Amino acid sequence: MANAPAAVMKITLSVIKADIGSVGGHICPSQRLLGAVTSYVRERARGLLIDTYLSSTGDDIAILMTHTEGVRSTRVHRLAWDAFVAGTEVAKAQGLYGAGQDLLKDAFTGNVHGMGPAVAELELEERPAEPFLFFAADKTDPGAYDLPLYLAFADPMNTPGLMLAPSMGKGFRYVIMDVDHTEGDRIIELDAPEELYAIAALLRDPERYVVESIHARSSGAQAVSASTSRLHNIAGKYTGKDDPVMLVRVQQDFPATGEVLAPFAMGHFVAGGMRGSHQVPLMPVRLNSTISYFDGPPIVTCAAFSMREGKLTEPVDAFAHPFWDRIRAHVADKAVEMRRQGFFGAAMLPMAELEYTGIVKKLESLEGRFRVRPEP
Ligand code: F6R
Ligand code: MG
Ligand code: MG
Repeated sequence: MANAPAAVMKITLSVIKADIGSVGGHICPSQRLLGAVTSYVRERARGLLIDTYLSSTGDDIAILMTHTEGVRSTRVHRLAWDAFVAGTEVAKAQGLYGAGQDLLKDAFTGNVHGMGPAVAELELEERPAEPFLFFAADKTDPGAYDLPLYLAFADPMNTPGLMLAPSMGKGFRYVIMDVDHTEGDRIIELDAPEELYAIAALLRDPERYVVESIHARSSGAQAVSASTSRLHNIAGKYTGKDDPVMLVRVQQDFPATGEVLAPFAMGHFVAGGMRGSHQVPLMPVRLNSTISYFDGPPIVTCAAFSMREGKLTEPVDAFAHPFWDRIRAHVADKAVEMRRQGFFGAAMLPMAELEYTGIVKKLESLEGRFRVRPEP
């Protein structure tokens, strides 16, 4: 039939990311390690994956996969898990720091949720043009994306499309997770713009409330999927920061690429940095960047793609443009300024968020030395 509409293809984007060992402390995976994980995935992709893109951000390796298996696919998750297990052997053989550190469980149990690696997945009906952004951050935690997502999808001061594009004017639905709740996924759905103040009241606390997904209210289509795992909630203790990944579809009914990137020019303060225990500004950096100053600063990378029938174009480095050099210099200034006050007050995270428990013992040991002075 000449005029029959072409069948819309359903594609799933899956990013699974883990820190399985790095060179020189927490700087980056070795080339051999990244090569081993890449080869493992590519050798087993046939019949399962349409396309893949492997990259590192700081000490984390992310596997981006396109396929038609849907979200939480056991086959897809097992492939990523097994690739990280195989990579861990290389990390051990090379004496890398923290070999296998994000693989918190011994045996694979269906999907990698709750097992250590971070996951962001999104099933979509492919548009004739399907541009999307893949973000990965290191030395921080999932709440780092809360503010950029608030600004990009709910604030016309950042996103003129909310005023100018009719479908975007219908607003977006936020699915927000209470990541402190460990007995299952505790979520709330809130609509922007009507419930903007409620969204703000939650996102004010990014260590507890994390945007999991965002959906266009015009069509119901999902625009965002972000990882929400908190390693300390899985392991019962801190085993490292949660270094989140995120997928964002852009253009048409969704914010434009530039509207999604713009909030990252702020260099907002996030939890992370040295020993995962500080407030340090988030620096947008080039793809495959490493870590340096003060085991940070926390970094975020963005690879922009287009896709057709699940086949990816080459990644374009969204933060490589000269504009971001100036931003990086500004963020470095902010980081140094905050570091001038060392351990004091706002420079460090509150007790519950510190990656080390030594300070708790120190304070306990001082308890016996406190005394209440008698009234004179
Ligand atoms: C995140 C990361 C940090 C470390 C933290 C503690 O990628 O590497 O959050 O987990 O700095 O590391 P240790 O105690 O191993 O130096
Ligand atoms: Mg690490
Ligand atoms: Mg990391």
